[in-house]
Amino acid sequence: MIRLKFTAEANPSKSSRSLQAAGSMAGNVHIATKWWPLFRSASNIPRTIDERLRRLGGYPIDLYMIHQPFSYSSVATEMREMAKLAERGKIRHIGVSNFTARQMREADQVLSRHGMRLACNQVKYSLLDRRIERNGIMETAQELGTAIVAYSPLEQGLLTGKFHEGPKGVRKASGPRRLMKGFKPHGLKHTKPLIDVLQRLAVKYEGSASQVALNWIIHAHGDSVFAIPGASKLHHAKDNVQAMTFRLTQEEIDELSEISLRVSLR
Ligand SMILES: NC(=O)c1ccc[n+]([C@@H]2O[C@H](COP(=O)([O-])OP(=O)(O)OC[C@H]3O[C@@H](n4cnc5c(N)ncnc54)[C@H](OP(=O)(O)O)[C@@H]3O)[C@@H](O)[C@H]2O)c1
Repeated sequence: MIRLKFTAEANPSKSSRSLQAAGSMAGNVHIATKWWPLFRSASNIPRTIDERLRRLGGYPIDLYMIHQPFSYSSVATEMREMAKLAERGKIRHIGVSNFTARQMREADQVLSRHGMRLACNQVKYSLLDRRIERNGIMETAQELGTAIVAYSPLEQGLLTGKFHEGPKGVRKASGPRRLMKGFKPHGLKHTKPLIDVLQRLAVKYEGSASQVALNWIIHAHGDSVFAIPGASKLHHAKDNVQAMTFRLTQEEIDELSEISLRVSLR
């Protein structure tokens, strides 16, 4: 299992040069990437792996995930193809993304027959979206020993507090965010009590609200949850990585858990 608390996802078409430019050597970085299953069958998995590895220029694929559950092939067939890649040494660990609890179990059962386990399920999870705690995904992950890789852990920037401090920033936000209810004035007002706690704790730890939100994710459920915050600017990445330099107390985790349920968006 990868021990990093953050993972960087790779786009094989541009990753090896940028990793080398950043001074990273193979072995010092962990590559996590995904196979896209929609309108494809599992026979595509072995067909495309060598080109992916070639584009990675010597960096091994530590974690290879099925991006989501919809495909011409069944979960079992996909897992058998992924297992064969691992047996051939093409990839190290196998994961999935956006799988339900039932699909996770099925994937893990197939992999078990090959002497492997399901390494992760990458799903949306943040202080403002805790659905995986209610729909069986978190429970199943803990039972199977499968890691949760939390995407959109900052709820697309809301948990940084910057939109609460400067609501005009919503107009400039990229993508469909300005249309989403959490970014509307009443949504920002609704989640403000949580942002206030994040900012109070940020002062204590001499960090940022984002760091506190990420720290909750990686520590609220033992050691099995990882976060992949997005960063559109270098200073975001530098800020977010500092979330690993401190540890919220259990009382602080409980306080955030409790208030987040009251203001949750989903
Ligand atoms: N598996 C899947 O189906 C799936 C789906 C969605 C996303 N993902 C993955 O999840 C990762 C991140 O998700 P995400 O981008 O949706 O959400 P996120 O991490 O919740 O939010 C990222 C946004 O928050 C802002 N931000 C991040 N750090 C900041 C900081 N320190 N200070 C101020 N602002 C900060 C930036 O917004 P601005 O640009 O506005 O500044 C950034 O684009 C990506 O790797 C993505 O590929 C996976």
